[in-house]
Amino acid sequence: MGWWFDGFVGTSEWWRTATVYQIYPLSYADASGDGFGDLRGIIEHLGHLGGKTDSLGVDAIWLSPIYRSPMVDFGYDVADHCAVDHRFGSLQDADALISQAHSRGLRVLLDFVPNHTSDQHEWFERARRSRTDRYRDWYVWADPSPDGGPPNNWLSAFARIGRAWTFDEPTGQYYLHSYTAQQPDLNWRNPAVRAAMHEVMRFWLDRGIDGFRVDAPHRLGKDALLRDNAPDVVDLRVATQLDDRRHRNLDDPAVHEILRGLRRVTDSYPDRVLIGEVGVHHPVRRRDYYGAGDELHLVFDFGFWSNPWRAEAFRRSGAEQHAVIEAGGWPTHALSNHDLSRHASRYAHRTATGLDTDARARAAAVLLTTLPGTTFLYYGEEIGMTDVALPDEYVEDPDGRDPERTPMQWDFASPAAGFSPARPWLPVPQAGPDVRTQSADPHSLLSLYRDLLRLRRTHPCLRSAGYADVHTDPDVYAFRRPVGDRTLLVAINFADTPRAAKIQAERLDPNATVVVSTGARPPGTTIDPSELVLEPDEGLVLELPTGRFGSNATLLRAHK
Ligand code: GLC
Repeated sequence: MGWWFDGFVGTSEWWRTATVYQIYPLSYADASGDGFGDLRGIIEHLGHLGGKTDSLGVDAIWLSPIYRSPMVDFGYDVADHCAVDHRFGSLQDADALISQAHSRGLRVLLDFVPNHTSDQHEWFERARRSRTDRYRDWYVWADPSPDGGPPNNWLSAFARIGRAWTFDEPTGQYYLHSYTAQQPDLNWRNPAVRAAMHEVMRFWLDRGIDGFRVDAPHRLGKDALLRDNAPDVVDLRVATQLDDRRHRNLDDPAVHEILRGLRRVTDSYPDRVLIGEVGVHHPVRRRDYYGAGDELHLVFDFGFWSNPWRAEAFRRSGAEQHAVIEAGGWPTHALSNHDLSRHASRYAHRTATGLDTDARARAAAVLLTTLPGTTFLYYGEEIGMTDVALPDEYVEDPDGRDPERTPMQWDFASPAAGFSPARPWLPVPQAGPDVRTQSADPHSLLSLYRDLLRLRRTHPCLRSAGYADVHTDPDVYAFRRPVGDRTLLVAINFADTPRAAKIQAERLDPNATVVVSTGARPPGTTIDPSELVLEPDEGLVLELPTGRFGSNATLLRAHK
């Protein structure tokens, strides 16, 4: 595939300008009729994503884990890294998905779960057989503390689980699990573990996948002496916002050598990418995970998706992301995924006529697709799917994340919204947005996403690294995207009432052209940016007349 990547450093890495679409395979489409989504179902719906004129127009798909799993953590507990779970199909189906996606111009990324395996993985079954088994040291074992309790005070990432240690009666030691007790942590200090996991990567890279989303990489480094966390940093969310390392069960400096190893394997294949879910909340510490261009290519931005719906919060994220670019990394934008309440729900606001989940989802679509960096969309986000409130008997996930994982809503005129001919594994609501209706409506959120992604693929300004934020009204976040003699100006009104944007630049050319607006402005309309009044919740993309704004650059605030 050819790439034009003007205005940056002359690189041609496809992932920089890509839009990646996350599929949660259990919930996308069920072709086999057992109530669970599967790989054949995804294949049948590839046209929704790419390769046709009315496709959404993403560049890559990322599949949450498809490996054999007892599904205690819904696939993030891997029992065999080189087998496809029977619910999803077979290795042949995976091969077919890879080749059919590629023939539509879609790259394929898999989830790689290095920190732990399922307790039903053969390696762990061997490890727990005896203290002398050759797999024993593939996991993290420790003797009880003198009072017989767990070896230290480390907690699971899941609040309901409590301690990160479980006692194994037959062998008289505790094993570490950063998540559920059915997900024992691998011991990455052991070279045999590294070699085996590198083999797993090669197994899939050899089958033609384009890279991995790496699950929880910050967990791979932990204190070699298994010392307690300081009592005031037991809560890891708080702890990882601090610029210190008084908590010891993650983000240990040892992680960086491990990641360089993963990168070497990846780089031994052309054009592959590693994207890390680095759950460290301090932006500078998170930045370390790019290494010197020799660790992760991309790092998810926990700050961005944790933002409240406020202009200054996203303006600050924009500045942090610009710092990532200046440090030689490349930022990412996502607002939803399988671990987060969907942003259409999170950012919904009450109006006189009820709960509005749509207006801010539209403005968010503009934000996600126009900032410099790699964009990630979560299945259903393109139609504005919301969290689905579930009756208690359906709550299965160890961390309560079922509401954002419900089946894709293809067509409410069909049973189970077109997801499955059978009873779906999680319920589908009675009504809501669906692909069929939105496909036919030029004003739908889906049509907006199609337009924005077309712009993102084709407009030189959106294929560059150029970015500077612009002084405005405090409720407006505006930035410009210059490249060569062209400039786009993006402005988003975070208020539910109209706002004069108050763009602070003199001699602004009055003849800007509307490219996309989530409000009522038709594309092609000429407007004067200095007089700009944004509609409530409006996201607006303007093209400035060639050459004019560039010469005004000093009047605008670059953000450093
Ligand atoms: C990551 C995944 C999450 C999973 C956890 C353990 O945070 O995104 O879904 O539960 O790791 O693998």
